[in-house]
Amino acid sequence: VEEDSPLQALQYGSLSFTASKGTKDPNENDATVSIIVVGASGDLAKKKIFPALFALFYEDCLPEHFTVYGYARSKMTDAEFRNMVSETLTCRIDKRVNCVEKMDQFLTRCFYHSGQYDSMQSFVELDKKMKHHEDGRFSNRLFYLSIPPNIFIDAVRCASMSASSGNGWTRVIVEKPFGRDSESSAALTKSLKLYLEEDQIFRIDHYLGKELVENLSVLRFSNLIFEPLWSRQYIRNVQMIFSEDFGTEGHGGYFDNYGIIRDIMQNHLLQILALFAMETPVSLDAEDIRNEKVKVLRSMRPLTLDDVVIGQYKSHTKGGMSFPAYTDDKTVPKGSLTPTFAAAALFIDNSRWDGVPFLMKAGKALHNKKAEIRVQFRHVPGNLYNRNLGTDLDRATNELVIRVQPDEAIYLKINNKVPGLGMRLDRSKLNLHYAARYSKEIPDAYERLLLDAIGGERRLFIRSDELDAAWTLFTPLLKELEEKKITPECYPYGSRGPVGAHYLAARYNVRWG
Ligand code: NDP
Ligand code: BG6
Repeated sequence: VEEDSPLQALQYGSLSFTASKGTKDPNENDATVSIIVVGASGDLAKKKIFPALFALFYEDCLPEHFTVYGYARSKMTDAEFRNMVSETLTCRIDKRVNCVEKMDQFLTRCFYHSGQYDSMQSFVELDKKMKHHEDGRFSNRLFYLSIPPNIFIDAVRCASMSASSGNGWTRVIVEKPFGRDSESSAALTKSLKLYLEEDQIFRIDHYLGKELVENLSVLRFSNLIFEPLWSRQYIRNVQMIFSEDFGTEGHGGYFDNYGIIRDIMQNHLLQILALFAMETPVSLDAEDIRNEKVKVLRSMRPLTLDDVVIGQYKSHTKGGMSFPAYTDDKTVPKGSLTPTFAAAALFIDNSRWDGVPFLMKAGKALHNKKAEIRVQFRHVPGNLYNRNLGTDLDRATNELVIRVQPDEAIYLKINNKVPGLGMRLDRSKLNLHYAARYSKEIPDAYERLLLDAIGGERRLFIRSDELDAAWTLFTPLLKELEEKKITPECYPYGSRGPVGAHYLAARYNVRWG
């Protein structure tokens, strides 16, 4: 099994720790990197960011001189912070190895600073602490804003004015949501740009860091057999499916203000669509790739009510267990009309994709948890074997499935002769099942993205014009849904979603995979 060492991996995609704009250090190997997790006491920091940083450290992917700072209002000593972080770390990379020693080494690099997000003074104190640890070396600083969006700008103002690096780079990772519509997103971008240059802003969409999403371009552009088929000529429809088998379960406060379209479709699924449908970029350079993605987004028709079905989960009892309705969540306002499910048909009006429906489906509290891309190919013209394929000829077309998660796989459904003397065909899979093919565990998306941000690689981060184009597609629909107070269709918790999604697909002669 060919696997990359972390160092080999680092050489891909022009990743390096050498100078990015604003860095004067000729010998950056000796430079320090301070990673400041703003909102360190929060859910995302504990669940994803610290474990990802530890995994990078474990794999020797972090620069030699790195320090992690937690910043939040909660009062904690360094020891208490380390204790909190330690509870989030696992030896998931290689379960055979006891990595307690590595954990201890990592934790000695972790420090905590308590302060308000709008306090210049507090960021000045943080700056002093960082300088102390930087020990006169060139200093690079990566702020990760893992806080609610209403305090993004306060934190960026204070961090950039009081705790920017004096001699290296300063970068800021911004978490979604990037606004709620075109207007608020533009306002956020404008405010961020008061304090930061665009190339300092790393807007994260963690789906872009998922292994199989990253692999999309490899699949298309480094295999002869896919790219020639990648157009309206051979593809009938493309489906992007996201489902979770749990509801908001007490976290409905954030969700209710956004809903599934903003939470999943406008960002995660649309990003996948753009990567899937873009033209061949001039190179693997971040700007070349992002230029192509923007072109796709700008070639798409903004969505209308007609193109969409929305749903909301209701309580359901199954096998003696009862599952709550969305509105039973205490953090959700009674009578909320926020969709927890949506299906949509999107179109790209360019010569490659004219008329091909791109169907998206995203929902919470469904019957399973998965994220996948399904590509359904056209019928074989004049198929000699139609008669042997049974009556459901639609089911007999080829289908390429890219299962992003769980149990990552890429498989192609083909028609095959059932061995024997007769001539019976069935559908079989040519299956690249990752767990069977690769022994190495797949890194978490946040590991890849943090590594890229440290290396100054922007390929997997969202540029502001991409974001604008994405909001342009969804804003009119979102406004209409809210202004007209469209009631979502009910679906039982744990079901396949509202039946309307099937009618929507049927309008385009599509069956969900
Ligand atoms: P949390 O709600 O856990 O907030 C993070 C920290 O911010 C808290 O620990 C708290 O720290 C501080 N905080 C919370 N609310 C306020 C407030 N009203 N005013 C000031 N400070 C506040 O957020 P998450 O960790 O869940 O998410 C962080 C960011 O990441 C958000 O933008 C979220 O949308 C995004 N995100 C989160 C995901 C997740 O899985 N959790 C997934 C994708 C994106 P203290 O009180 O100590 O200051
Ligand atoms: C986040 C959404 O962006 O992605 C959550 O805000 C969702 O609602 C999560 O649960 C899903 O991420 P993953 O990586 O678990 O599929």
